Amino acid sequence: MSNILRQDLLRQLEQLRQEAEADLAQANTTEAIKAWHGEYLGRKGRLTGILRNLGGLSNEERPLVGKTANEVKVTLENALQERQAAIAQAELEAARHAERVDVTLPGRPQNLGKLHITTRTLREIYAIFTAMGFQIYDSPDVETDEYNFQLLNIPPGHPARDMWDTFYTTTPGLLLRTHTSPGQIHAMRQYAPEPIRVILPGKCYRYEAVDASHESMFYQVEGLAVGKKITFSDLKGVLVDFANQMYGQGREARFRKSYFPFTEPSVEMDIDCVLCNGKGCPVCKYSGWLEMLGAGMVHPRVLQNGGYDPAEFSGFAFGMGPDRIALQKYGIDDIRYFFTNDMRLFERI
Ligand code: FA5
Repeated sequence: MSNILRQDLLRQLEQLRQEAEADLAQANTTEAIKAWHGEYLGRKGRLTGILRNLGGLSNEERPLVGKTANEVKVTLENALQERQAAIAQAELEAARHAERVDVTLPGRPQNLGKLHITTRTLREIYAIFTAMGFQIYDSPDVETDEYNFQLLNIPPGHPARDMWDTFYTTTPGLLLRTHTSPGQIHAMRQYAPEPIRVILPGKCYRYEAVDASHESMFYQVEGLAVGKKITFSDLKGVLVDFANQMYGQGREARFRKSYFPFTEPSVEMDIDCVLCNGKGCPVCKYSGWLEMLGAGMVHPRVLQNGGYDPAEFSGFAFGMGPDRIALQKYGIDDIRYFFTNDMRLFERI
């Protein structure tokens, strides 16, 4: 009887081992492993169930079956450990894979900043004039009535003041400059009686009805050359050379007579339209010409105010609007875009 029991227990143990190993191979998760352990090796598991029958064996048979049962237990525990390690590794790999940073993914495009169109234009203007020997001279945005008007031959009540209506501060006689021309007096007073060649860039302010070509704050670049024997031809030569460098070689230029209280004679310079090459288009209002700047020979009274003797010295001066130049050059139809911070404007350059 006990021999049959022994045979049966050994057979059950062998069957348990085979089934447990087969089941373990199917367990793919930590949860499945736990359930497997409970079923085969746990306190209420199948191995414990088989061992409960050891009591029915003789004293000689019991160690033999016990030894086999122990071997099965050790084999299964080793298999369990191996399987656990493999599952933990697989789960780690899966987590790693799920969270992996794909370094080959294209990055999100960054919108790199660009220089403002006016800043670019100013820098181009600086490069051209400094190569011709002009120095850049800084002068203040806040001016006195004396510098902005009187020393430039525009006394109080002069009708030309209507062309340059400005913003006044609460301090009497102090205002935001309407043009860069007062810088002429600052530069002359600093250098007289030495000859000078300067450009004076900066912001100007006018009490304007703002429209597509007029802002209440805009840039100007003033130019001034003072010396002995400076003539109108020098002015033309410098400005035509500038236009060719700024807009490309072969530009046509024309000078029209004009009026500024601080220059005599005074002119306005036009160039043939850079967009239609003089044929006529909306930007040049179908005239074929674009107005570029105002200029002239420095008025003797202004030279005197600057500290130069007009009998000995002469000079030329000009004033241009880089915002307007940028509008023309890049075919932009409204100066107000310059201050709206819309990045699409800068895609054009
Ligand atoms: C003057 O301001 C004179 N001081 C220029 C000058 C200097 C003449 C030296 C002779 C000798 P005018 O007002 O035309 O001139 O302005 C010169 C340029 O500034 C214009 O051609 C234009 O390009 C620019 N400008 C004038 N007003 C505005 C405005 N509201 N918005 C944008 N640009 C302007």
